Amino acid sequence: MKPNIFFHSEIDSAEGWRVALATQFEEFHFSTLESLEHPEAVDIALIWTVPDGGLRRFRSLRAILSLGAGIDQLDLNEIPLRMPLARLVDASLARTMTDYAKAAVYRYHRRFDVFEQYSRDGKWQFMPATLTRDTVVGVLGLGEIGREIALSLHHEGFHMLGWSRTPKRLDGVQSYTGRDGLHRMVGECHILINVLPLTSETRHTLSNEIFSRCRAGMQLINMGRGQHLVESDLLEALQSGKIGGATLDVAIVEPLPREHPFWSHPRILITPHVAGTSIPMLAVRNIAGNIRRAIKGDALLNEVDVLRGY
Ligand code: NDP
Ligand code: OXD
Repeated sequence: MKPNIFFHSEIDSAEGWRVALATQFEEFHFSTLESLEHPEAVDIALIWTVPDGGLRRFRSLRAILSLGAGIDQLDLNEIPLRMPLARLVDASLARTMTDYAKAAVYRYHRRFDVFEQYSRDGKWQFMPATLTRDTVVGVLGLGEIGREIALSLHHEGFHMLGWSRTPKRLDGVQSYTGRDGLHRMVGECHILINVLPLTSETRHTLSNEIFSRCRAGMQLINMGRGQHLVESDLLEALQSGKIGGATLDVAIVEPLPREHPFWSHPRILITPHVAGTSIPMLAVRNIAGNIRRAIKGDALLNEVDVLRGY
């Protein structure tokens, strides 16, 4: 098997992936936009976004493998109809997402957000610690990543709730579904973590509809996509005190424009879409498995249901 792989990403290292693929295939052809000579010979597109010129010139293409867990960054109009499309599922991605979620949750739970400000103000003020079991944390999305976050925080002792499209049975995580379930869940949460995929149904989930029902002062951690959040609603909810603070890893426009009001808001922490990182040397095993499947004509693992949107 000598797969012909086209790689395209504005954020992932082509060289890192080429080296990782070499651990899986004795022989393979690897090209990027710069080195692409025979698009008609490409069988696999390993991509974060659709490259300039689209994918239709790849006439032998057998599968598109997303370099992201999400696929919303791919322009589906540019993807040949019925082309198998799989998203990235990888333990290193889930692990780094979980570490980020834990760091952000503990920052609120142990009030580092407040102490950061006190440090700037030269203020020495005692605040008692609370137990993790007294902090209620909700997770929106209980898939590959959300499930690991919820279970891991449960092991830390937090009181865990989770929302998904279909009901879940996860040890120590109370499952909610539907709009009504979402409204009930956010009424309980001290901290809400979003790790939903971006679909037509989930766009704008983080809006006044939720903020008006949430426990007063709830802290929000958005690790999903910027388009899940109605930014003006967050600013209003911070102003009114409905939301206590927000940690935002994603934004509608990335990089977040310099003049954006989020940068200077004292209760917003911005990180530049770094919550999850897949390490090519680890993630390559699943990718190589899907390359083999695609070339044999077998169904892909983690195939995206394009109609459902994730
Ligand atoms: P999965 O597809 O495994 O899980 C998605 C979860 O969302 C499932 O539990 C699903 O429910 C739930 N869901 C989908 N639609 C709805 C809906 N309408 N209502 C309620 N629940 C819904 O995805 P992953 O866990 O692998 O990834 C999730 C997202 O995390 C990615 O799409 C991406 O947006 C984001 N991400 C961000 C990163 C970052 O660095 N900031 C890095 C990696 C991912 P059900 O289980 O019932 O199907
Ligand atoms: C992803 C991401 O979806 O990095 O994997 O955001």
